[in-house]
Amino acid sequence: MQNQVINVEVWRSDSNGSFANYKVPRLDKQTILDVVTYIQRKLDNTLSYRYSCRVGMCGTCAMTVNGIPRWACRTQATIFDSSDRIRIEPLKNFPVIKDLVVNMDPFFQKWKSAGAAFSAADQYTDDFAKVRPDSIARQAADQAIECIGCGVCYSACDVVKWSPDYLGPAALNRIWTLYNDERQDSRNHLLRNVASDSGCLGCHTTQSCTRFCPKELDPSGSIAGLKRVAFRALF
Ligand code: SF4
Ligand code: SF4
Ligand code: FES
Repeated sequence: MQNQVINVEVWRSDSNGSFANYKVPRLDKQTILDVVTYIQRKLDNTLSYRYSCRVGMCGTCAMTVNGIPRWACRTQATIFDSSDRIRIEPLKNFPVIKDLVVNMDPFFQKWKSAGAAFSAADQYTDDFAKVRPDSIARQAADQAIECIGCGVCYSACDVVKWSPDYLGPAALNRIWTLYNDERQDSRNHLLRNVASDSGCLGCHTTQSCTRFCPKELDPSGSIAGLKRVAFRALF
């Protein structure tokens, strides 16, 4: 018979902290976010964690569960039934503020330094841009645009761990959407921003980002696209 209590280890304090043990009643269709919320509301109200939408839209609830970066609100606790405990930690590759809350500043600072913001090529007086839905560029942009900025791919990336300057999969994925957006100003400038070892050329194509992205995006494929156009520009 299934154990009606889940043994949960949760990281407490900052990067010098340790794990605390909790016993959480098992419930039907319980998510990892439900588990963490039970601990905070019923067992220890000093536990810090983030969430907002609870439905896989906002990207704020990401944490490491049994060694894998995941979105907590869409991860069912039952998938860990074969292990005797669930271990919940903050995302790796981010500075820990407290418990499960990490500092996202370095992550978004890299988006900023890569220039990953839309800048219109047209004036506001121009007519609406007409972009064919079946154009190759539009399809490449569409595939990558659903990113919710959760940081799971960044946490999974070994190059981010080894090279603090590496922009990381999410920022590069965003650059790929902008590069393929016909309405974007200075697309070659974007390419110059990321055609370096701290940009797309630094990627080792290990595919961890693609494997763990909860939105099933393909940052590794986006980075391969950037490499392709960067080399083409070179020759
Ligand atoms: S494919 Fe590149 S960006 Fe993605 S996890 Fe591997 S090294 Fe990091
Ligand atoms: S690419 Fe995927 S894993 Fe990375 S931040 Fe966006 S949604 Fe999250
Ligand atoms: S709480 Fe918004 S994605 Fe999980």
